[in-house]
Amino acid sequence: MRKQIVAGNWKMNNDLSQTESLIDALKSKAQTSNAEVMVAPTFTNLYPAFEALKTTNIEVVAQNMHFAENGAYTGEISANMLKGVGVQTVILGHSERREYFNETDELLAKKVDAALANNMRVIFCFGEELADRKSGNEETVVGNQIKNALFHLESSAFKNIVLAYEPVWAIGTGETASPEQAQDMHAFIRKTLADKYGNDVANSVSILYGGSVKPANAEEIFSKPDVDGGLIGGASLNADDFFAIVNAF
Ligand code: PGA
Repeated sequence: MRKQIVAGNWKMNNDLSQTESLIDALKSKAQTSNAEVMVAPTFTNLYPAFEALKTTNIEVVAQNMHFAENGAYTGEISANMLKGVGVQTVILGHSERREYFNETDELLAKKVDAALANNMRVIFCFGEELADRKSGNEETVVGNQIKNALFHLESSAFKNIVLAYEPVWAIGTGETASPEQAQDMHAFIRKTLADKYGNDVANSVSILYGGSVKPANAEEIFSKPDVDGGLIGGASLNADDFFAIVNAF
């Protein structure tokens, strides 16, 4: 049985007091859920968030990390530093990291290796741009993003990998992939994994959808057989909306 996961990516939003308020709101609403629930505050708020949520079933995860253990990388954060404040899972390859910080598949492969070497779980993000979809190249682009960053791994590594398909044209735009578009791509992603690693691995990896998921569309998207949850940006900044999405399972 694949894990169902709903993860809130808070991006560069919320200072410490706003983070504390949002966490209080989440704690007052948290209930048993069929899905694993995660939130990703910004680096400076990871530790207070971890402390505030450690007695709940909400996991605190990071939005990014560097591949090196330590050293002269001004402004960067290592896996060890994340683990030191209680973080066990990291989002890698978000399209905003790829677009604004020039993160390439090759760099992401190194980050994935570093996270796994530190026994962390990775939520690996990828997705095509609008031009790719318009030209019918979405599967080629997505297939290459997965192969380039992940296909050097042993099959056993996939127990610590969650995939997140996020079409760039749907992130923060209010435009969502239709449930059918999401399902078609998720099925393609699973087949890509199966062709390389076999059905057992492919069927065990959770594949999340991200891109303008809201309370109004979550249930239909999550009802698709290959959609195992969501990576939620904007709607995760509101506790009511976030839990409405969590409860869409
Ligand atoms: P969005 O962001 O829900 O605001 O579209 C999703 C994401 O970037 O993970």
